[in-house]
Amino acid sequence: MTVSRTADRAQRKAAASTATDPPAERGTWQPRSWRSFEVAQQPTYPDRVALETVLRELAALPPLVTSWEVETLKQEIDEAARGERFLLWGGDCAETFVDCRSQTITAKLKILLQMSLVLVHGLRVRVTRVGRFAGQYAKPRSSDLETVDGRTLPSYRGDLVNGVEFEESVRVPDPQRLLRGYERSALTLNFIRSLTEGGFADLHHPEQWELSFADHSDHAEEYRRRVEEIRTSVTFVEMLAGHRQGLERVEFFTSHEALVMPYEEALTRTVPRREGWYDLSTHLPWIGMRTADPAGAHVEFFRGVRNPVAVKIGPAMTRDRLLRLLDLLHPCDEPGRLALVHRLGAGRVEELLPALVEAVRESGKRVLWVCDPMHGNTQKTSRGLKTRRFEDILGEVEDSFRVHAELDSVLGGIHFELTGEDVTECVGGARGLDEEGLDRAYRSFVDPRLNYEQALEMALLVARRGPTKRVP
Ligand code: PEP
Ligand code: CO
Repeated sequence: MTVSRTADRAQRKAAASTATDPPAERGTWQPRSWRSFEVAQQPTYPDRVALETVLRELAALPPLVTSWEVETLKQEIDEAARGERFLLWGGDCAETFVDCRSQTITAKLKILLQMSLVLVHGLRVRVTRVGRFAGQYAKPRSSDLETVDGRTLPSYRGDLVNGVEFEESVRVPDPQRLLRGYERSALTLNFIRSLTEGGFADLHHPEQWELSFADHSDHAEEYRRRVEEIRTSVTFVEMLAGHRQGLERVEFFTSHEALVMPYEEALTRTVPRREGWYDLSTHLPWIGMRTADPAGAHVEFFRGVRNPVAVKIGPAMTRDRLLRLLDLLHPCDEPGRLALVHRLGAGRVEELLPALVEAVRESGKRVLWVCDPMHGNTQKTSRGLKTRRFEDILGEVEDSFRVHAELDSVLGGIHFELTGEDVTECVGGARGLDEEGLDRAYRSFVDPRLNYEQALEMALLVARRGPTKRVP
């Protein structure tokens, strides 16, 4: 079933390179060269002058992240692609400006820390934590317009663009929101950096990350047992070594769907003593399923930046399209450059994943494979509420681990929509949340997220798989 891993990578790379549209024929890349390509999912700003003024202001403001953080993440993505690390990636479907609050941010940080600890313990690899936060403010929509009671207004595209309230003054895209989004991202990052540098994430004191309602969780005991084992090991190693092991702080990386192109362009910079351009709005920008057209503006933009880049892969992805994306976004097989995030839907992994893995293998390039078990599993309840079933999410994760292993490939990360709060948006899980129970605390304006307990349960179930496999 699999192409031999020992076949010459370079030979396969040359054979698989598509003849059409090589990067050189596109001309020299510039941060603004995406502007001559078809660009999907952009807001229509009525006041172009106001937009240009905001973009100039943004371009003069300091970057949100640094190139060395971005390069560190790239290295860790390469390790995850080889099975030497695991990427835990999660957060809200969309952040909102009002939720830029200490409680929401710390709850998200806590659940990601808890999940990562459980995964380190179970999978026996280091875990890199990437948040869908500090910039996840823009959403793709299936339609530009929304009609309610005979009135038609622009669709809500995320707080970076417009507001959710169905009022004309709120729904018309406002460029000032680009500045507000930049500022909220900076505030979030500042708080996260202070917390993670300042001892909040100290492995000697995991009790600091406990959430108040965690005691009542069905999983509290298994979680505590794993944490206690880690704490004992840490004490033992430090006793032998005679000094602390630098476990007082952890790294956190940020990511968002890079959707609103003028915003990304304004934050794309050169830096002293490094070559090329970095999109310094985030560490790991991703191209969503609806904007992953190889001929489109988003792919053109991201072929030119030095960040690691992720691309969402849906069920409609073809071998040829994937090979073109690899040509454009990953031409030199640079370690850690590309993550492919498949979101195929429960029950479809076995049918769809092998062709994707074979196509990448044919290209001779290495990528990090990540499973997003959320976006292929959205359904509506009988009352029209968007939800996802815990069992479907878990099913897609388990199938992805299994099918990658059967193909002699490695699943190096998982991508969840989750929150550290006690919301009721996804059904199922140990507590058996059902459709009736969704009303109690359904807060998402966009996609349904795993709540704290469901997210921790997910990590515990994944951790039970045991050590991950490495690739040569
Ligand atoms: C998302 O990650 O919120 C999203 C919209 O995903 P996709 O592009 O995979 O549909
Ligand atoms: Co979503």
